[in-house]
Amino acid sequence: MQLWISPLIAFLLGSIPFGLIIAKLKGIDIRAHGSGNIGATNVLRVVGKKYGITCLILDALKGYLPVVLALNLVQIENKTVMPMLGFLQDFALHLPREQQLTGQLVHVLTAFCAIIGHNFSPWVGFKGGKGIATSAGVLIALMPFAIILLIFVWLLTFLTTRYVALASIVAAAALPILTHIGARFHHINNDKTQPTLWEAGTWNKPLFVFTIIIAVLAIWKHRSNIERLRAGTENRFERKRKKVH
Ligand code: G3P
Repeated sequence: MQLWISPLIAFLLGSIPFGLIIAKLKGIDIRAHGSGNIGATNVLRVVGKKYGITCLILDALKGYLPVVLALNLVQIENKTVMPMLGFLQDFALHLPREQQLTGQLVHVLTAFCAIIGHNFSPWVGFKGGKGIATSAGVLIALMPFAIILLIFVWLLTFLTTRYVALASIVAAAALPILTHIGARFHHINNDKTQPTLWEAGTWNKPLFVFTIIIAVLAIWKHRSNIERLRAGTENRFERKRKKVH
């Protein structure tokens, strides 16, 4: 039961179209405006800054929370308990080291289901969003050190080009390699409370394969943005100019 409960919760949570709901509360069908995407960027663009930020936080949380749950419910030799969910200890499935691969698979499957739930939400005709905020949420739970590097790459690309989509594409492409660097750093710091790519000298293959799959998925989801970038018609977030009186 513990093996499947978190992937299921992840899909259901991931499928909640927060962007659509937030915009609808303001009387706007987000799919008919801007890029037509239901993600935080388009909510910010069409509805406003505070609504976009709210959407970003909620979309990230629906990735973060189920992964934290999975890390607590399916533990490899009690190594993945996070203090805030320590009470789950009694319900947790404690896998012996020989079943490490099973545990790793459940963790990444949970992360994947949250992203798939968002990208192909059944509540919006399986169209969904592009999965960047939800991916960030799952990555914060799975590999906090990699996410710091990713945010740096994302910000650098965005601030130099002012294209959110390009920043997301570049960050996605950098994800697998940054995961390597981030996990190594994590390991050097000897923090064993999180799963890393090198757990006690063993290679966490599911985590690495997962980063490649979600990177490809994120880039594929941005194919309309790529077309617009090539045509020079992609929406740009220009710096606000100071009013000249
Ligand atoms: O997270 C999605 C972002 O990278 C692009 O959004 O609305 O410009 O297609 P949008």
